[in-house]
Parts: sequence; structure tokens; C-alpha cells
Amino acid sequence: MLKIDNLVCGYGRMQVLENVSLEIGAESVGLFGPNGAGKSTLISATMGMIKPWKGSIEFNGESLLGKETYQMARLGIALVPQERELFPGMSVEDNLMLGAAYIPHAQAKSEQQIEKVFTLFPILKERRKQYAGTMSGGQQRMVAIARALMSDPKLLILDEPSLGLQPSIVAEVFDVLKELKKTVSILVTEQNVRESLKAIDRGCVLENGKIVLEDSADGLKTNPYVLKSYLGL
Ligand SMILES: Nc1ncnc2c1ncn2[C@@H]1O[C@H](COP(=O)(O)OP(=O)(O)OP(=O)(O)O)[C@@H](O)[C@H]1O
Ligand SMILES: [Mg+2]
Repeated sequence: MLKIDNLVCGYGRMQVLENVSLEIGAESVGLFGPNGAGKSTLISATMGMIKPWKGSIEFNGESLLGKETYQMARLGIALVPQERELFPGMSVEDNLMLGAAYIPHAQAKSEQQIEKVFTLFPILKERRKQYAGTMSGGQQRMVAIARALMSDPKLLILDEPSLGLQPSIVAEVFDVLKELKKTVSILVTEQNVRESLKAIDRGCVLENGKIVLEDSADGLKTNPYVLKSYLGL
């Protein structure tokens, strides 16, 4: 599905990613690493928000290089960005419907899709008329994930979905991802390795722009380096 090969990129003259290769099939993959490792940069390059210096990025065999971010949605890639980017003065329902806007196949089935999304997040159905900006941080994160799902993606990319949330909500977010991974491929970046492990099949550790480790979720759980550096054991 997504194939990133030897990606090199950065900002201005500062190189951030150094020959990063990553493949995601019908599975859920975690991308872990400390602040500044380059996780968001990898996502920005994939979504066409920054231009790679070298390397290739393909989605189902089609190169994503040179494509605009809006074209990614039509191809079936949805992003839940690190910043929430909801429209606070619009209702929950209107925010969700925007997730399907300008994507013909998603627009055509938006009524069914919103019902599916409401099944996954019953609280959003209850609150659908409420202004998004008046919801709690955790609920706004749910709206952001739900809105991405409205585009009916094949691949859902989430950039640190647990950031700034209280522990009970973090657990809820990963429960949702665990459910979602049955039907959609997932790439999720996180600093919270412990909670993410239940929602991924496989994970990579990115440090200083390089992938230093790649293993199954079970392998990561017992890896001495991961235990020490990421699970605090
Ligand atoms: N727009 C930008 N312009 C210049 N430098 C940037 C920009 N965005 C990120 N950087 C730098 O690139 C490096 C990687 O940042 P990036 O945001 O990709 O890290 P990250 O792994 O997502 O970290 P975090 O966990 O804090 O989100 C950092 O040194 C950061 O300061
Ligand atoms: Mg980031």
C-alpha cells in the first residue's frame, strides 16, 4: 500500500530524515521516537506538505511525489494531524461532513459513513449539534479522528493522537484504533509506546532521522532497548 524508500528530507539546509524506508500493507504500524526525531517530518513528506530531497514515496504503486495534499485524500490517505485543526465555531456534524467534502466517492456515501462513525464514537452522535470548540480535548481528538474517517480512507495516518490527553482518554483513543485496524491500514506516530502497542501489529523506532529498530508489537514489548528507553522499565 504505502512504500517509502530511502527518503531524505529536511528544512532549508537542515537535513532531518536520513534514508528512511518504511512499508505499510494491510496492517497497523507504529512510528516511535523522541521529540524532534522526525516523525512529523516523515508524515509531512508523505502528505506532500514538504518536498523530499531524495527517495520515493508510492501509494499502491503510484508515486506521491509532486502531488498536492488534497489529492492524497482522493487516493485514500487520511491524516489526523498533530494539531487538531477543527473548526471550533462549527458543529461537530459540520466538521465531520467536511471530512468528505471534495472527495467524490466519500461524498456519495457520506450519510452511511457518518452513521458508521457515530457507531464508533457514540458521544459524537449525542453531541452532533454542539460547537466543536466547546468539546473537551479528548472529544475534540475523537472528532478529528472521525473527520478523517469520513473520507473513507484506505490508510489512516495519525500524528501523536495521545498528545495532551489524560490517561483514560488515551486508552480510549487506542481502543478505537484497535477496532479500526480491522478495516483500515494505520500509520501512527507516538511517544506513548506503552499504550500504542495494543493498537499496532508492527513498529519502528526513529531516532535522529534514522530508523534504528523495526519489529512486531510482541518483539518490541520484550526488546531490552525498547523496555529501557521507551517503556521505562
Ligand atoms: N517547519 C519547520 N521548519 C524548520 N525546522 C523544522 C520544522 N518542523 C520541524 N523542524 C525540525 O525538524 C526536526 C524534526 O521535527 P519533527 O517535528 O519531524 O519531529 P517529531 O519527531 O515529530 O517530534 P515531536 O514528537 O515533538 O512531534 C526538529 O529538529 C525540528 O525542530
Ligand atoms: Mg511530531
